Amino acid sequence: MNDKHLYTAVGLMSGTSLDGIDAALIQTDGEALVVPISFATLPFDPDLQASLREHLGAREDGSGGIARAEKELTLAQADAVREVLGGTGFSLAQVDIVGFHGQTLSHDPDNGFTWQIGDGALMAQELGVDVVNDFRTNDVRHGGQGAPFLPLYHRARMMSSNVERPVAILNIGGVANITWIGDGSPDDIVAFDTGPGNALIDDFVRARRGMRFDRDGKLAKQGSLNQDFLMEWLRHPYFGKKPPKSLDRNDFHPGALAALADEDGAATLTAFTVYAVEKAFSHLPAMPKSLYVTGGGRRNPEIMEGLRAVLRTPVAPVEDLGWNGDALEAEGFAYLAVRSLKGLSLSLPATTGVREPVSGGILHRGR
Ligand SMILES: Nc1ncnc2c1ncn2[C@@H]1O[C@H](COP(=O)(O)OP(=O)(O)O)[C@@H](O)[C@H]1O
Ligand SMILES: [Mg+2]
Repeated sequence: MNDKHLYTAVGLMSGTSLDGIDAALIQTDGEALVVPISFATLPFDPDLQASLREHLGAREDGSGGIARAEKELTLAQADAVREVLGGTGFSLAQVDIVGFHGQTLSHDPDNGFTWQIGDGALMAQELGVDVVNDFRTNDVRHGGQGAPFLPLYHRARMMSSNVERPVAILNIGGVANITWIGDGSPDDIVAFDTGPGNALIDDFVRARRGMRFDRDGKLAKQGSLNQDFLMEWLRHPYFGKKPPKSLDRNDFHPGALAALADEDGAATLTAFTVYAVEKAFSHLPAMPKSLYVTGGGRRNPEIMEGLRAVLRTPVAPVEDLGWNGDALEAEGFAYLAVRSLKGLSLSLPATTGVREPVSGGILHRGR
């Protein structure tokens, strides 16, 4: 254990959207003090991306293909660490810890299962830096949902901001999750997955149009939403379930959309993401005074305008707080790696449903 008060940490994240590898360099005490320093994102090599996509949902490595993808992923993420240090004046030797989230292949906490690939020992050896990985397993082992994991980071950042409480942060990645922070004790926090984020929209426009995503919501804007599909999906028991709760990327299948035109399908899925957030609001302890949006979904004006239309709360990107919405998740795993080193909790009963606050992560020594 390092006895320095302030740790220099790199966080690595590649979310379920499979759009790329995010790396962030921060300094933090693992508690209320956080100083973001730099951020980089590396696009996936197309072959690696295709191979990861092929293995989404897998629970074991049948053919050895996952082990190969894991090795490649690890080396690509090690490059992302070098990239984020570039030009900052920080060297690898000055990095105390790398928080390596890895790539989620499947997430099924109700059956005690969550799986992120990423070889922590290889990363540590490759960089000569200590690495923490496997953040979610210990939470699931203790009855938690293993997600969402950013709430403690959101709370840390909120502590040094003077926005009115309660306040909520919505992260729209492949799946979307919300963190509600009240005005009482530090434990006055609630977090859960609201529903799908971008992943269904991405999958749909990829299948229909070969597009990576519906840039600026252009396709959805040209269509109209199909009420029947929307209503049916919103009747899914997930939305009525009390938090904490979490979703797998593949819990909903847009296959039912086959009969719809491309534009209408995109509009319907975009509305689904928005209305799932409205449903989530009914599970919050009190109406937030504002909602700050992070993750790639904040770049989709159809989602942002949709949220503004259906919620009775002002909606703004986290940039209005001075935060970087592209970097936040990677920063969060740098922060959690430091907490893991210090044996501090990574999750709480109110954020993942874990039986008691637990730490987690596996440390791999690189030096
Ligand atoms: N300009 C944009 N218009 C619409 N959607 C966007 C835009 N930029 C990013 N996105 C969406 O954000 C996704 C990436 O979000 P991200 O927060 O990185 O998710 P993840 O955490 O799952 O990697 C993309 O796949 C895409 O769906
Ligand atoms: Mg991403």
